[in-house]
Amino acid sequence: MSNNIESLQTENRVFAPSAEFSAKAHVKSLEEYDALHKRSVEDPDAWWSEQAENLFWQKKWDTVLDWSDAPFAKWFDGGKINASENCLDRHVRDGKGDQVAIHWVGEPGDKRDITFSELLADTCRFANALKARGIKEGDRVLIYMPMVPEAAVAMLACARIGAVHSVVFGGFSATSIKDRLEDSEATAVITADGGWRRGGVVPLKANVDEALDAYEGVETVFVLKRCDNEVTMTEGRDVWWHDEVDGVSDDCPAEGFDAEHPLFILYTSGSTGKPKGILHTTGGYLTGTASTFKYIFDYKADDVYWCTADVGWITGHSYIVYGPMANGATQVMYEGAPNFPDWDRFWQIVQDYKVSIFYTAPTAIRAFIKAGDHHVEKYDLSSLRVLGTVGEPINPEAWMWYRDKIGGGRCPIVDTWWQTETGCIMISPLPGATPTKPGTATRPFLGIDAAILDESGNECGPNEGGKLVIRKPWPSMLRTIYKDPARFKETYWGEYEGIYLAGDGARTDDDGNFWIVGRLDDVLNVSGHRLGTAEVESALVSHAAVAESAVVGRPHDVKGQAVVAFVTLKEGVEPTDELSKELRNHVGTEIGAIAKPDEVVFAPRLPKTRSGKIMRRLLKDIVAGSELKGDTTTLEDHEVVAQLQEQFQKVFKG
Ligand code: WTA
Repeated sequence: MSNNIESLQTENRVFAPSAEFSAKAHVKSLEEYDALHKRSVEDPDAWWSEQAENLFWQKKWDTVLDWSDAPFAKWFDGGKINASENCLDRHVRDGKGDQVAIHWVGEPGDKRDITFSELLADTCRFANALKARGIKEGDRVLIYMPMVPEAAVAMLACARIGAVHSVVFGGFSATSIKDRLEDSEATAVITADGGWRRGGVVPLKANVDEALDAYEGVETVFVLKRCDNEVTMTEGRDVWWHDEVDGVSDDCPAEGFDAEHPLFILYTSGSTGKPKGILHTTGGYLTGTASTFKYIFDYKADDVYWCTADVGWITGHSYIVYGPMANGATQVMYEGAPNFPDWDRFWQIVQDYKVSIFYTAPTAIRAFIKAGDHHVEKYDLSSLRVLGTVGEPINPEAWMWYRDKIGGGRCPIVDTWWQTETGCIMISPLPGATPTKPGTATRPFLGIDAAILDESGNECGPNEGGKLVIRKPWPSMLRTIYKDPARFKETYWGEYEGIYLAGDGARTDDDGNFWIVGRLDDVLNVSGHRLGTAEVESALVSHAAVAESAVVGRPHDVKGQAVVAFVTLKEGVEPTDELSKELRNHVGTEIGAIAKPDEVVFAPRLPKTRSGKIMRRLLKDIVAGSELKGDTTTLEDHEVVAQLQEQFQKVFKG
């Protein structure tokens, strides 16, 4: 990568929070933020222990941070805590048992309101059911569920008994489930017969069955009845959720676990073919997610919060389950697609439940813009007071639409930058304090020492592009890559001594706002979801017809990036439209539908250097339709580029 990441974007529109909003906010002005931030990064232990005090500890910690074995951090060592007690029991004890925890909306239109008392009882019963099947502290449990309250119950029940959950997004394939089972050596699976998606049933149980044909370590599969679709139950292994909780006690004492007890593993894409098992632990993770939820969404007791993410992604873990629930928030959970039965579904829900804080992804916003304003204009959205975005840089045009059409010009937008690895939001406005500009995530959160460094490790000046880093440990940081500490060290801590490398390029502007430019590695961002190009490539190469492939992203106006696969076939295999379709489906089977290439370009040869390295940069230029930039003198075969340009134009769908 070149020394200067280009950053030519300029944006001069500034939107300050209204005086009325600021007056009631947790942090009321930029001056207050600046002072708090200065204090918090000068003495992070003091700041984070104040935040941790807001949780319920069965035993208080002895040390805030032990960094002696860096980069392996220990936060709140000596402390004992139970995540599920913090999300449930504590609120019931505080007299909030009758408060709604989840307003749930199923895709077909069924609805349920679940109070904190009910959620606690459901969680305890299911935790007892897990125990009855021999699941205990430290065991790994794979969860593959639709967006139903039981997904949260399953996670909280694992947390309650100290089992480590590994949630797999319901859109991933049987092969993805199998890979994650193998890596985590899980002994139980929690799933459902199916989940509703755009009027159809996603056959979750069937996918689990297929995965279990190739993995033997699972003793029990708990199956929730959701869609009533036909499933095969394997005797001695598969059990129905409703049978397992029938008549079971709703008393399951919350045991205090070490602060560093593993809470979950969540797999995410990196620059090699194998997804990384990101490991988060208990006390620090809860401290990070609970405090960011409170400050960044300016959460107050009477808010109704809605995050539209799926629990299968980190956003669902941190900002549907742990962050909001640790704060005792009332939230909306929706099962299905944003456009079912039509593109107005979200706005109907906002109106029905008087949602006041709404958190979604830029890709969804762009899809709404495309679908037309009339879907929005029918509804009363005046309950909204804070809007958030996550997952990718938001283009200023989408930001302005979000502000005007959804926020009525009145709601601050928090553009939140973070990662599966960071556990909680790291860079974001505080809605009552930070002046916002369309397209920037603005400032580091309290206690977060973010910076942008050049190749030699010097801090970049304003408008100078560089690598985004975090210079001090924070409580919700990943602790390791599961079973691969060497990769953990090398990926995140290998570039600058003792400093966390995020893998994103960024710059600051003259006002000190952070602008995220995008990934520095070969990670794509498709509809706000992380996909490694290497993962898609190894899926393609696993097909009998494929000799070699190179995958790159191209700009896409709704998805952010689309996947383009350049494929060299084996000798004697004919490139046909049929085969192209087959390869797309093959990727769908290997990873999941989101990874299917938008275009498959058959390439007799790939552009390579003389030493045989594929020149991805050239492929990116080809698919972006831009002129070939930079040095091509190392290219071995110049003709191949013109050929690929032509081939790409033939299949390009625009
Ligand atoms: C990108 C999602 C710009 C970034 C929470 C990061 C963003 C990756 C933003 C992590 C944002 C996330 N602005 N880019 N507000 N939020 N990203 O692990 O490239 O699925 O490294 O976590 O998404 O994706 P992940």
